[in-house]
Amino acid sequence: MRAIAPSILSADFGDLREEIERINQSEADYFHVDVMDGVFVPNISFGFPIMEPLQKYATKPLDVHLMIVHPEKYVERFCDAGAWSVGFHLEAVDDPMPILSLIRGKGVRTCLTINPDIDVHRLDPYLGEVDMVLLMSVFAGFGGQRFIPETIDKIRYVRSEITRRQLPTLIEVDGGINPSNAKDVFAAGADVLVAGSAVFHADDPAEAIRSMKQQ
Ligand code: DX5
Ligand code: ZN
Repeated sequence: MRAIAPSILSADFGDLREEIERINQSEADYFHVDVMDGVFVPNISFGFPIMEPLQKYATKPLDVHLMIVHPEKYVERFCDAGAWSVGFHLEAVDDPMPILSLIRGKGVRTCLTINPDIDVHRLDPYLGEVDMVLLMSVFAGFGGQRFIPETIDKIRYVRSEITRRQLPTLIEVDGGINPSNAKDVFAAGADVLVAGSAVFHADDPAEAIRSMKQQ
């Protein structure tokens, strides 16, 4: 699978309806929704109020990426707010299993994510327990950072594990993705690429999405 998930974090919020419409019209596959709490990451983005216009106007599934402590308190609300998938950070919790159950109990897809400094092998026990894993290719917290090249080997490793164990789990990669590196990230085994600035700061967002997809 080769999918693109534009991160609404880089959208112009003064013109959100228009930005959503632009993505609806494009070849993008999902809306990536970055929720930051100022505790798990040193930045605050947005929460439930932004889910409302997205649920109302977006015609593509909402892929919610929670960068928050205590995701167990909020995952069900994000499911109710229209999420297609809900992901949270493995390093933010003691035991992800009960939280995955909360999400699954709502009929929503599950995703576990790790920052670049977390050993990729920590995902091993969960590869068969989630619908998707999200490998961060920058440190969570801000859009517009540079892709960390070491991510490529981690993607290859997770892809080999998923193939060896014959799992249907998707691999998503998030941070610093653009039309120049998308090809290598897909080639390493990624299914879904998140792109914020490369889409919303482009002169032609639809063209940026198309060029990343056609890599
Ligand atoms: C970072 C977020 C990313 C970010 C991607 O904390 O999880 O989704 O918005 O933005 P770019 O594509 O600009 O790196
Ligand atoms: Zn994200």
